[in-house]
Amino acid sequence: MACWVVMQDGKAVFIQVSMAANNSPSALEKEQAHPILTAMAEAIATTKRYAVVTGSNKGIGFEICRQLASKGIIVVLTARDEKKGFEALEKLKSDGLSDHVVFCQLDVVDPSSVASLADFIKSKFGRLDILV
Ligand SMILES: NC(=O)c1ccc[n+]([C@@H]2O[C@H](COP(=O)([O-])OP(=O)(O)OC[C@H]3O[C@@H](n4cnc5c(N)ncnc54)[C@H](OP(=O)(O)O)[C@@H]3O)[C@@H](O)[C@H]2O)c1
Repeated sequence: MACWVVMQDGKAVFIQVSMAANNSPSALEKEQAHPILTAMAEAIATTKRYAVVTGSNKGIGFEICRQLASKGIIVVLTARDEKKGFEALEKLKSDGLSDHVVFCQLDVVDPSSVASLADFIKSKFGRLDILV
């Protein structure tokens, strides 16, 4: 038997999956989770995560920004060219992702640009969870 605590409609739900003899899930039983499990599930669901995507004013990087931001992750869209970067940022903002995207200039072959990005992340977020 396996158990999970998941968030459903803003509430933590404890799910038990009974395994049949052939080892496949045979039943789903849902019940109210223990308060401690509920608090843990809520903490995980509400913890902010921060990502940086390099070369993300277009192509794969841009799409990765969109997908991460639409999952609620705070994304730093970066580009070596500021104008292109801000244009890309505006596209994501107009798609309703304003609260989850910021821009920072980054040329990956310029050490001073890399150091500036590190300072930006440290001062604004205090940590980084995802680097693409
Ligand atoms: N497209 C595919 O199907 C595919 C498949 C497998 C692997 N890849 C690889 O994935 C990567 C991205 O592919 P893509 O199709 O998204 O390419 P892309 O559309 O050409 O985008 C590349 C991005 O990298 C940026 N960039 C280049 N040099 C940079 C630098 N020194 N500092 C910061 N940013 C820089 C570009 O900025 P600018 O606009 O300023 O040039 C652009 O934003 C490439 O390495 C590619 O080989 C792509």
